[in-house]
Amino acid sequence: MKTIIEPFRVKVVEPIKMTTRDERESYLQDAAYNLFLLKAENVIIDLLTDSGTAAMTAERILFSVMCKKGSIVPNNTNFDTTRANIEYIGAEAVDLPIPEFYQPAVDHPFKGNMDTEALERFIKRVGPERIPLVMVTVTNNSGGGQPVSMANIREVKRICSGYGLPLYFDACRFAENAYFIKLREAGYANKSVKEIAREMFSYADGCTMSAKKDGLANIGGFLCTNDDQLAQQEKDLLILTEGFPTYGGLAGRDLEAIAVGLEEVLHEDYLQYRFASINYLGEHISRAGVPIVQPPGGHAIYIDARAMLPQIPPNQYPGQALAIELYREAGIRSCEIGSVMHAEKHSESGEEIPAAMDLVRLAIPHRVYTQSHIDYVVEAILKVHERRAALGGYRIISQPKFLRHFTAEFEPLEGQLGSEEQLWITNTVTLPRSNGPESVVEI
Ligand SMILES: Cc1ncc(COP(=O)(O)O)c(C=O)c1O
Repeated sequence: MKTIIEPFRVKVVEPIKMTTRDERESYLQDAAYNLFLLKAENVIIDLLTDSGTAAMTAERILFSVMCKKGSIVPNNTNFDTTRANIEYIGAEAVDLPIPEFYQPAVDHPFKGNMDTEALERFIKRVGPERIPLVMVTVTNNSGGGQPVSMANIREVKRICSGYGLPLYFDACRFAENAYFIKLREAGYANKSVKEIAREMFSYADGCTMSAKKDGLANIGGFLCTNDDQLAQQEKDLLILTEGFPTYGGLAGRDLEAIAVGLEEVLHEDYLQYRFASINYLGEHISRAGVPIVQPPGGHAIYIDARAMLPQIPPNQYPGQALAIELYREAGIRSCEIGSVMHAEKHSESGEEIPAAMDLVRLAIPHRVYTQSHIDYVVEAILKVHERRAALGGYRIISQPKFLRHFTAEFEPLEGQLGSEEQLWITNTVTLPRSNGPESVVEI
């Protein structure tokens, strides 16, 4: 059979509340144009994240125990919460992806790889004593959900071992990464995803895992280490702040869900269906000219908002503008991964330095939406794409010190028109008059 079906039956359903464009406009204003602040019931299709619902703290415990002020943690790309946890301690998070990572249109089978030469140069320059651990995020979420090859993991491990540095995975999407290795890396086609995952983890000294991704759970995560002394310190902190090590603050039901999820996520029919539905979305919008990060990643499609909306400079947040417009158009919530999330402050002038890319992530939640939902998303994106020239930028009117994208408030820049008016002007054409010179006619 050519048709790839959802390899599950739907047993519990949640009705979707349909909203009108006028209602969505007022919900946007109530949320200060921050899609994180929308009420979930007012979202028709929620592609904000493929993750569960609550925060996990494995990251906090790991970095509190291993890092101090002045430490540096290299990663292929630090995820936003990883970076924030490191910076909160006064340490520094450094991204060392391969150069292709920053070129959305460039195809590469393992675009999530770490730049191993840059890693070695970096360790020599700052000194291994300042680096308590090296991390590799599998898959690399921040720029496309891109996989890391086994060869790259092996090489990072070789470098780390040479300097006595432990290697940790941010393992949120380890199963998707393993499936990419099976599909794309020579020598792995006949291995099971489980065997590939085992080999990946054989190179790691520890990992953080938010089980709300490839643990297929609604909540929870865990932290692993092969260092007994470190494990003891981490358990002490866990007991102090969260709960006994056997449950870490989680209910028994959630622990069981994680155990089952970790098994089910390695089923290859599940991974095949998941990749097929993500590719379907990517192909249908890129074929119509929407610029996306190529090739599609394992959990999401990323639209290159900077390329799609060249009239909006990065300091007016093209990713935010596109994400807002998708909600306004069709009630679809997506996530800006760009200059709102990742801009840095210039150390002297204090001016904002835009992120390397302005992307909008359409994360596909696990086993939630069906084919017609994805078709609806394609239609909405194409509609916004048609009138992209009329979209304007935003400015931030209030923001917190850390992780500003979750709670910052925005407003449309002056001169930006409502979408009905934009449509009006987009459709202005010059027509010949029957009884006089040509004139501009609005249709
Ligand atoms: C790679 C990566 N690391 C860490 C996290 C944070 O996990 P949590 O949502 O449990 O805080 C995420 C969440 O999406 C992620 O994608």
